[in-house]
Amino acid sequence: MSYYLPETVDCNGELFEIFITKEQLEARLLLLGKTLDKKFDGKKPIFIGVLNGAFIFLADLMRYVSIPCEVDFMKLSSYGDEKVSSGQVTSLKEIDAKVKNRHVILVEDIIDTGLSMKYLVDKIKGYEPESVSVITLLHKKEATVHDVQVDYVGFEIPNKFVLGYGLDYAQEGRNLGQIYVLKD
Ligand code: IMP
Ligand code: MG
Repeated sequence: MSYYLPETVDCNGELFEIFITKEQLEARLLLLGKTLDKKFDGKKPIFIGVLNGAFIFLADLMRYVSIPCEVDFMKLSSYGDEKVSSGQVTSLKEIDAKVKNRHVILVEDIIDTGLSMKYLVDKIKGYEPESVSVITLLHKKEATVHDVQVDYVGFEIPNKFVLGYGLDYAQEGRNLGQIYVLKD
């Protein structure tokens, strides 16, 4: 099987180049999986993925985890089709699982301003879980202005617009097999 891994990609009229390769992603996910195995040994955590962006990261990450675990999804209102945040978050899809007294691991593709994750952590805490942890594949640390919990990070990245491996630009580009960055 071969994934879609072009050298450069034109997405909605903007040019993107390779930023984090498939090999780098696999190596990092392997380590994250091992870390989660240790931290949650004997706890049967529930992963809650944030749709749509986290679906590929979560799908791959889970397959590096060998302890018993479960999965569910939430969906938040997004950026719309822009490259900058609208500054408003609402919930479009709620979790079905009962998370009271459970160990919850929130899974995001990227934390930018931190607004979405702050909203999510507060929301999940309202369901009285035993613990809430946050894992994100990418973190634009210098762009994060909200006081948000981040426990596990795949890659800290500069404040640039990225695409692929679940992340979109105006809903396109999620199918790219690795991470691309807007060419300047
Ligand atoms: P935050 O609420 O500002 O932290 O934004 C988080 C959400 O914005 C992520 O879940 C993504 O959907 C989206 N986002 C932020 N930066 C990027 C990017 O560089 N590429 C694609 N989506 C992004
Ligand atoms: Mg997202």
